[in-house]
Amino acid sequence: MTRIETIAEGVTLYLGDCREILPTLGKVDAVVTDPPYGIGYAAQPIVGKGKTRSNHEKRDWDDSPVDLAPVLAIDAPKIIWGGNYYDLPPTRGWLSWFKPDAPPSLSHFELAWTSLDRTSKQYAWSIAATNAERVGHPTQKPLELMKWCLGFVPDAKLILDPFMGSGTTGVAAVRLGRMFAGIEREPKYFELACKRISDALKQPDMFIAQPSKPKQEAFEL
Ligand SMILES: C[S@@+](CC[C@H](N)C(=O)[O-])C[C@H]1O[C@@H](n2cnc3c(N)ncnc32)[C@H](O)[C@@H]1O
Repeated sequence: MTRIETIAEGVTLYLGDCREILPTLGKVDAVVTDPPYGIGYAAQPIVGKGKTRSNHEKRDWDDSPVDLAPVLAIDAPKIIWGGNYYDLPPTRGWLSWFKPDAPPSLSHFELAWTSLDRTSKQYAWSIAATNAERVGHPTQKPLELMKWCLGFVPDAKLILDPFMGSGTTGVAAVRLGRMFAGIEREPKYFELACKRISDALKQPDMFIAQPSKPKQEAFEL
């Protein structure tokens, strides 16, 4: 059974499988998401003293790419991290997260496919800064990266993330004064998302009417 948490007006989180929940949702203005890539948790950076790649636990949800058909069927602009692992239509509007401090053994960038007919853009954010924000999800995205993404859908009032994880897209959305609907299947990540998004709503500067421009020359709209 789906659990539904209304965190605030216009901010609703669903614990359950997005394949079942998506058909029950109303219209959204943009989909910004980060589905499992099917490359396994072992591909993630190793964080913490004494950790090695061999003691990384594999997660079932990252063993194979998910079926994105229900997400692609949504009539709204889409930004999909890991889009290079999926069979998606050609686009010129790729987004890239460049990791300036990535060691040679790790990927130096990640890609998001978008349905936007625009030039491709790149955002730099270090692995060190990403690790400093971690709340307990092994593939958590940096908050600033997700805020940058939302700058590419400036008119989207209601943002949907059907693979919400620890809720980074939701935190970015509420911090920028947008509404948010998020879906997550794993209870422990759902709890993290509920807490992070509730906490973000309590922060005083969330009522800024217009998102401030990212400091780096990240996008021209
Ligand atoms: C790559 S992670 C997202 C991480 C997120 N961007 C963050 O910053 O925390 C993908 C998430 O999708 C969830 N997931 C996988 N299949 C799902 C499904 N069918 N419905 C809902 N959530 C699903 C996984 O449990 C996982 O937490």
